[in-house]
Amino acid sequence: MTREYDFLVIGSGIAGLSYALKVADYGTVAVISKTELKETNTAYAQGGIASVMYQPDSFEKHIEDTLIAGDGECDLEAVKKVITDAPEQIKQLLSWGTSFDKNAEGDFDLHREGGHSEHRILHHKDNTGAEIQRALIQELRSHKSIDILEDHFAVDIITQHHLGKVTEPWMKDIICYGAYVLNKKEGSVETILAKTTMMATGGIGSVYQTTTNPLIATGDGIAMVFRAKGIIENMEFVQFHPTSLYNLSERPSFLITEAMRGYGGILRRIDGSEFMEDYDERGCLAPRDIVARAIDNELKLRGEEFVYLDVSHKPAEETKEHFPNIYKKCKSLGIDITKDMIPVVPAAHYLCGGIKVDLNGQSSINNLYATGECSSTGLHGANRLASNSLIEALVFANAAAKDALKSIEDIEINRKIPDWNDEGTSHPEEMILITQSNKEVQQIMSKYVGIVRSNIRLNRAYDRLEVIYRETESLFQNSKVSEKICHLRNKINVGYLIIKMARKRKESRGLHYTIDYPNKLPE
Ligand code: FAD
Ligand code: SIN
Repeated sequence: MTREYDFLVIGSGIAGLSYALKVADYGTVAVISKTELKETNTAYAQGGIASVMYQPDSFEKHIEDTLIAGDGECDLEAVKKVITDAPEQIKQLLSWGTSFDKNAEGDFDLHREGGHSEHRILHHKDNTGAEIQRALIQELRSHKSIDILEDHFAVDIITQHHLGKVTEPWMKDIICYGAYVLNKKEGSVETILAKTTMMATGGIGSVYQTTTNPLIATGDGIAMVFRAKGIIENMEFVQFHPTSLYNLSERPSFLITEAMRGYGGILRRIDGSEFMEDYDERGCLAPRDIVARAIDNELKLRGEEFVYLDVSHKPAEETKEHFPNIYKKCKSLGIDITKDMIPVVPAAHYLCGGIKVDLNGQSSINNLYATGECSSTGLHGANRLASNSLIEALVFANAAAKDALKSIEDIEINRKIPDWNDEGTSHPEEMILITQSNKEVQQIMSKYVGIVRSNIRLNRAYDRLEVIYRETESLFQNSKVSEKICHLRNKINVGYLIIKMARKRKESRGLHYTIDYPNKLPE
């Protein structure tokens, strides 16, 4: 089956949906999501969305905080763009029906998080992402011109390679014509042709064993663009959130928002002693990479499995009011956070790099945009400031929509694209080959390519992954397409990119820390 659209949007988080809403009045749109529309990283966001709202905050301060976190790797133009466009995009979110908490004076109740010098985090209780996702989906459904294709899994983007023309990676003439998409219910691969395609497939947390990300975060968009020879960058900068709830039986790991440290939460060893002052003068409010490394170090030194986050000294009613979901979740496990300390561990949380895009969200492949967590805009550099990602997705989706609208009339649909060819393939007889390799990839990434790295660990990870890569490619060539095998293949591609870029960096910077080069190279 072949479908045709002006705008193909792969992903239904904040990036994909806000872009779709902005182009919907100017052509035909398809939004595809590999599960349900609402199952996204966006829906899991707790802390909130950063934007300068009131004095004494200023754009300059937010820019400065972002640059400090980015550790010399941010693109100043991208930083300025996101921060100065943010208030306008917040208004847009409000006009789509999102609600943020206000104080008694009727002003937005702004939180402050690690690395921020001011209160500037708009939030909806402790489930901001779910509120944003709800409003966006409601707005999307009111646009009858948008086709919503749930349970549709993008396998690969379509480029000249599918017409038998080989394009070298450094050439600028790769063109995206749409995507091959597995209709999961029918079990068939459809050809979706589009004038422009937006990649908004989110993060990569599921490449690791322990992550705050939902299972959908397998880096599919990055892997697809990599296979199509698009430019990918900054993959070594994987952010580990310092405080996910320690509960071995749960995947994804439940996040204990950073806002809790902003609220006065104190990190303690199992014996109750504080330790963050030993690592950074900002104590518990140090940026999350420093906190994650400090916790990692404490756990390794002491052979313990978790540390505690303690808000038991704060007024109980206020804690319940600010963090109702965390309160409820912990209570369900027998932890009353108003009295008990919360056991926490770091977990893979966010990818700062990804598909390289310019200030219009355009990737190195023509007619292919990328926004949200799968993209690398230059905002985060080597480390992301908390709550800067939802706003980045909104601002870049807006820029990409404006850019796409300028050229859409001039782009022709390419109708010479062949159907997906699966001749000679069959269903794998032993699914264990896929499930076991998947576990191995996650273990390799967590054990060797985690918070603290070294040459020997990275080399070992590279060698191990290569074996699994060869086995999987051979299996893929002979198999009918399934989501499981595509996920495995994509995770291997993403793991490879992280390791490759980490090995290249002969220094420690931002989120990339290696014991072999503990210092930063001069700028
Ligand atoms: P997502 O929201 O993850 O959406 C990805 C979409 O792509 C999904 O619809 C998925 O189905 C689809 N997709 C993926 N692959 C395919 C495929 N092959 N075919 C079809 N569809 C596909 N950021 C903040 O700024 N503030 C916060 O407070 C905050 N808290 C967070 C808390 C948690 C627990 C987590 C996990 C993240 C948090 N983040 C936060 C990060 C932020 O939520 C994400 O970076 C952001 O939501 C990503 O949005 P997105 O639209 O790029 O991707
Ligand atoms: C959190 O609430 O701690 C997550 C914030 C973020 O990832 O930006």
